[in-house]
Amino acid sequence: MSFRTAHFTVATRFALIEHGRNRFAMVLVALFVPVWTTLAYLAMPDDPARMRLRATGETLAPHGNELTEISGALNAVTLITGFMMFAATFSGSGFDRRLALAGYPRVPLVLAKVTALALVSAVVAGYATAVTCLAWTPRQPLLLAAALFCAGLTYGALGVGFGSLLRREVEGMFAIVMTSIIDLALQNPVTSSGADAPVVRYLPSYGAMQASTAAGFSSSPVPGHLAVQLAWFAAAALVAVAGFRRSTRSSLSSGAPAPPPPAGRRHRRPSRAPPFCRVLTDAPSHAHDPAHGVRHGSRLRSRPMRPSSQPTPADRDAAPRARRSRFPARSRTGEDPALRAAYRLCRRTTRRHDPAIHALVQLMPAVLRPAGWALWAAANAVDDLADGPDADAAGRAARVAAWTEALRGDLAAGTSTDPVRHALVDTALRWRLDLSGLRGAMAATRDDTRGRHFADWAEWRAWCTEEIAPWVDQVRHLFEQAGAPMTPRLDRQHDYRRFIDGAQLTDVLTDLGADLAEGRLLLPREALDACPGAEDALRQGRWSPAAAALVGTVTDLARRWVTRPALTRGMHPGAATVLDTSARLLRAQLDAVDAAGPALLERAPRPSLPTRVRILAPARLRARLAWSLTPLTVPAAPPAPPVPRRTPATARAWEPAAEDTALRTPPPHPEGARPPRIAADRMPTHVAIIMDGNGRWAEQRGLPRSAGHRAGNVAAREMVYGALEIGLRHLTLYAFSTENWQRDTEEIAAVLEATRRELDEGPVRDLDVRQRWSGNSGKLPEELVRSLLREERRTRARTGLTLTVCLNYGGRDEITRTAAALARAARAGDVDPDLIGEDDFARHLPHPDMPDVDLLWRTGDEQRTSNFLPWQATYAELYFTPGHWPDADRRDLWQAITAYGRRRRRHGAAPLVSPRKPAVPTRPE
Ligand code: IPE
Ligand code: IPE
Ligand code: MG
Repeated sequence: MSFRTAHFTVATRFALIEHGRNRFAMVLVALFVPVWTTLAYLAMPDDPARMRLRATGETLAPHGNELTEISGALNAVTLITGFMMFAATFSGSGFDRRLALAGYPRVPLVLAKVTALALVSAVVAGYATAVTCLAWTPRQPLLLAAALFCAGLTYGALGVGFGSLLRREVEGMFAIVMTSIIDLALQNPVTSSGADAPVVRYLPSYGAMQASTAAGFSSSPVPGHLAVQLAWFAAAALVAVAGFRRSTRSSLSSGAPAPPPPAGRRHRRPSRAPPFCRVLTDAPSHAHDPAHGVRHGSRLRSRPMRPSSQPTPADRDAAPRARRSRFPARSRTGEDPALRAAYRLCRRTTRRHDPAIHALVQLMPAVLRPAGWALWAAANAVDDLADGPDADAAGRAARVAAWTEALRGDLAAGTSTDPVRHALVDTALRWRLDLSGLRGAMAATRDDTRGRHFADWAEWRAWCTEEIAPWVDQVRHLFEQAGAPMTPRLDRQHDYRRFIDGAQLTDVLTDLGADLAEGRLLLPREALDACPGAEDALRQGRWSPAAAALVGTVTDLARRWVTRPALTRGMHPGAATVLDTSARLLRAQLDAVDAAGPALLERAPRPSLPTRVRILAPARLRARLAWSLTPLTVPAAPPAPPVPRRTPATARAWEPAAEDTALRTPPPHPEGARPPRIAADRMPTHVAIIMDGNGRWAEQRGLPRSAGHRAGNVAAREMVYGALEIGLRHLTLYAFSTENWQRDTEEIAAVLEATRRELDEGPVRDLDVRQRWSGNSGKLPEELVRSLLREERRTRARTGLTLTVCLNYGGRDEITRTAAALARAARAGDVDPDLIGEDDFARHLPHPDMPDVDLLWRTGDEQRTSNFLPWQATYAELYFTPGHWPDADRRDLWQAITAYGRRRRRHGAAPLVSPRKPAVPTRPE
């Protein structure tokens, strides 16, 4: 089956199931057709109605009730098909748009709609014909069915057109009903004296009316009028396709609204696991470690996120090795039976402790599910350790700390003996997750054991942000890595944070009883004080009016927070489905809290099974459709576990930034040189250096070129010292270009090895320098990439100099990757291609915060830029010096900066007129 055929099959199945879910339409088909046609037959007089049938030229005198029954059948068929197609198009337009933006071809989508329309029309027309035949026998029943079918097609296409073009549901329904009534009433000689008027031949169901009347009362074939009806269908279909194209176009202001909150229902459980994760988590885990007992409660938090389309170091690393496919779980976990067992355990834990969460993970693409289970199980494991009744507070804090510490060691080793950590470590390596962000969350969970008190909602939200968001970030990062970002648009970040808060608040409410039993009431004083007496009642286990008022108020607040209709605008359709569904589940959970009343203190409420099915069943369909359409990027198997070293890379990433407390100052210049004083407005912000001449420097001394590169590293250190001393904010060094691969292998190895040593052992590590890497991982050795990423992570909080090392860097490569990121963002609906400006491009650069280069300095007596920072250096002042790079020291940097201070930069403006030399001589007084 070709890819397109597969798309068509999946989309058709989806369209038919969506129609099948339209219960109102099913009732209409079952009841409206027989009731309307039978009533028409019984209620109308059977007096002959004289009429001229244009289709055959005959003058007929059919019974009025039979004629009206035919027109009623047409009316029923047109209304039902029009309504069904309108409803499906209207409610699914946001989803269709997401699919189209995500790259789902529109043609199979349109064909699927047409196929569904044909099937719906055939069924309804066949049914209406059968019902009509029960009362009397038309002369040509097949022709009647064909005429009804063609009318159904026409109105179905009109329904799609209205669904695509009209903004409000009521408008579309009104349009369909009125069109059908006017259209058919005008043509029925029993109800309209103008049925013979020439104008009726331009009505949309004229062909079908003529054909069906002929079918009822004449034996003549009328293929021409069926053709007229098909022509109407073709015209309506053109309008529908145009409307569909328009509604699935990329637009910043478009996007599917999240489903509205379901009216009245409810749900269960205690708080504290990532909102998405806690919607994705909920249950105690610890099947992996019976000694830890079973617990509930978890912690979720939210944190601002990086724009999804922006390539991250990890993206850079993953991209070259990525392949597009969907893997079965077995191949994802390789052949390691322990690892497979670990993931299985995580999945079982998820499913057993919270089927709803498990169902939510099932909405993720198959390739991401193991990671979802691992993250959920880990979050829950930590939560369980912090909450267990089997130990005092200190004991619980100690075991959370022990688990956290064990994870640190496991990350360093690349494996674990604990199955949950084993799965988590594998997930982190496989998807290149930076788990160091979880350290704060776990520490916060540990601190929860001492009890939490919040003065106001701001404090409460800060707790939520600290404890929950890092887990959610990991889930989001997973989606990003797979090329299906779950990242809200920048203008929706506030919504996202509120949503996470709302999810956490829902958990707190759900777990109210369990938390109170352990002496916790995780609501801010501000909320408790607003309902005097509520706190005392709750702590005594009483359900008083004040307690009910408090729960009601907080439930309303949580419902407002999780109701963020625009949150998923422009998001990938699969990711949006997951997020929208978690929102619906949360609202259902809040309904369950509302409905529980005093029972809330006894047990965690849950939404009913039908409610969960109502939410999850369509979500499964949508998710399957979305993921089947959008190929995912799956990283290759994770690198082999690193051999533990004294300070392994992964461990460093996890360690607290303790070494930052002991940052050193740069060593003084050997000759005691001090930096010049540069006026602030003469100081460049960003100096970029093409460090050229290493090879010639070595050759002049009869040394191998590798010696030149090692000497070049010493000069680079000098520049860092000089930059810190003079107060430069950004220094960017060109260390190895994408063109340098053309060099001798030995020389390449020498350059790269010298860089790695500098990263691992160089003195710059201990300075107040935030190190970053710009370039492509491509053919770079794995260990070097790890060192580069590790230094980025380790130094990211430093505030002194930002040092960007361009390694395997090419300006064109950077621009190409940025264009790809922008294209991905456009496909995801985050940017409108028609509105892309320079800012949008800059935002998608690997380091969007890198300022423009003010001064571009090249040593080595060459005057070219060699593919270095073409975007950022368009207006840089160029500065070339004849000496070789290894001979340079910090004084040369200061000299370059001094020279820069003397330049006059105009950025395209006209030169300023010198006040001392007026352009127009003034007359002496
Ligand atoms: C620059 O020095 C460093 C790298 C390109 C890695 P070169 O190695 O280009 O030195 P020359 O230009 O050959 O002297
Ligand atoms: C530019 O130097 C690249 C680096 C300094 C890393 P090259 O020596 O490679 O540049 P060309 O070949 O002279 O342009
Ligand atoms: Mg060179």
